[in-house]
Amino acid sequence: MKVSSASRSSTPAPPCAFVIFGGGGDLAQRKLVPALLNLRRDGLLDDGLLVIGVARTELDTASYRELLAEAVASEDPDGWAWLDPRIHYRRGSFGDPELYTALAETLAEAEEATRGNALFYLATPPSAFVGVVEALHGAGLARPPESGWRRVVVEKPFGRDLELAGELDRRLLSVLREEQIYRIDHYLGKDTVQNLLVFRFANGIFEPIWNRRYVDHVQITVAEEIGVEHRGGYYEEAGALRDMVPNHLFQLLAITAMEPPISFAAEEVRNEKQKIFEAIPPLSPEDVLSRAVRGQYGSGEVEGRRVPGYREEGRVDPESTVETFAALELAVDNWRWAGVPFYLRTGKRLPRRRTEIVVQFKRAPFSLFRDSPVEHLPPNRLVLRIQPKEGIHLGFSAKVPAPVLRMGHVDMDFCYADHFGSPPATGYETLLLDAMQGDPTLFQRGDSVESAWRAVQPVLDVWGAMPTRGFPNYPAGSWGPRAADELLTRTGRHWFTGEDT
Ligand code: BG6
Repeated sequence: MKVSSASRSSTPAPPCAFVIFGGGGDLAQRKLVPALLNLRRDGLLDDGLLVIGVARTELDTASYRELLAEAVASEDPDGWAWLDPRIHYRRGSFGDPELYTALAETLAEAEEATRGNALFYLATPPSAFVGVVEALHGAGLARPPESGWRRVVVEKPFGRDLELAGELDRRLLSVLREEQIYRIDHYLGKDTVQNLLVFRFANGIFEPIWNRRYVDHVQITVAEEIGVEHRGGYYEEAGALRDMVPNHLFQLLAITAMEPPISFAAEEVRNEKQKIFEAIPPLSPEDVLSRAVRGQYGSGEVEGRRVPGYREEGRVDPESTVETFAALELAVDNWRWAGVPFYLRTGKRLPRRRTEIVVQFKRAPFSLFRDSPVEHLPPNRLVLRIQPKEGIHLGFSAKVPAPVLRMGHVDMDFCYADHFGSPPATGYETLLLDAMQGDPTLFQRGDSVESAWRAVQPVLDVWGAMPTRGFPNYPAGSWGPRAADELLTRTGRHWFTGEDT
């Protein structure tokens, strides 16, 4: 098959200093530095790049390079040979002004190569965000020099509820301009998520049926097989709803539901997404009881392996009432989607890793096959598979070849890897390149973050006020609590698990 492609941007990043606060951590080793190597492989980094790791850990530049080399060098020895001499380390506590004085010196020394550009990446616990940004401001590092730029990438979570997210934003905006803040959601770095925009807006055949006349409902599932791993401490504070819904799942929802922007300019795309967040009516407390479901995994079996329950995980309260599963039924109250339910669910220790958007269409209006068993065939479904096995599947009915009328449900399958191969990628490449190039399209704007919190706040309030006594309520390795199924079955629908196609 002939594959044609048009690339979004092949312009390399300008030179800059890439300063990673939390530079010795997991994110830097597993995602950020490998992403730099992948960008270099594609010729998208400038020779004037400088990487400065900043952390409290007792390291110096030589030992920091060794630490990163262990994590990444074997994957790409050529790339590493290029990157290694560009890496530096500054040790210090994030609250210590001397750290920023030293950083200022390093940046000044490198100014000829970097042209004064600096991208500060906050790969730190959220509690450090404001302190670091205020200290950068205090040391004069947040103000762009005459010919360069200064930008700050902020990792999620942005606050832990509507009020704290607003407070975080106010404090960031007291020392930075909105254009300098890049709120990252790594789901937007996934190629398959970006492909959703292409799928919807570069193809003429889907848009006419992408609305309440033809769509019965939409399901967005982010299922994880893993438990909370070594992040029990963080998870006890967050829970599944905060960890995944107002960010990753809402991004998927917005891209699925938004109107076509008039161009792919950052503000046009972000305005359309913002309209979707604003069109989600907040649930009343009664709605929360009937349209929001929480769960927590008990022990069970995943992939043939016994695994402990959430309450037995490290750094988790043995009586914890924190949810590891959340499902919601939301509406998008606008002309296109009025009356179409959007079902969202996410959970840990589900049977498999699976992120997908299912657009289920209405049945044909008059069933010619009403009196035969074939009327029970599943309706048409478009499954946009984000990960793994990235692809798009369209399910429809077809006649089974036989003298009698029998129908089967078949799938038309497009699998990304078969057509485009699967070059190594961390999901951070596009986002880092965009931040270096000053393109905020795939980053979140402050007002969207706030609107997303506003939509989930009633659920946080009701769940906070009514701790559940029924946890754990799903065994590891199952698809979550029974109430999550009932959310759909009470209207004759059911979650798509892939088994029925
Ligand atoms: C993170 C959450 O943002 O996303 C994790 O904090 C979750 O709890 C992860 O496991 C999922 O990301 P991905 O890319 O593996 O789907």
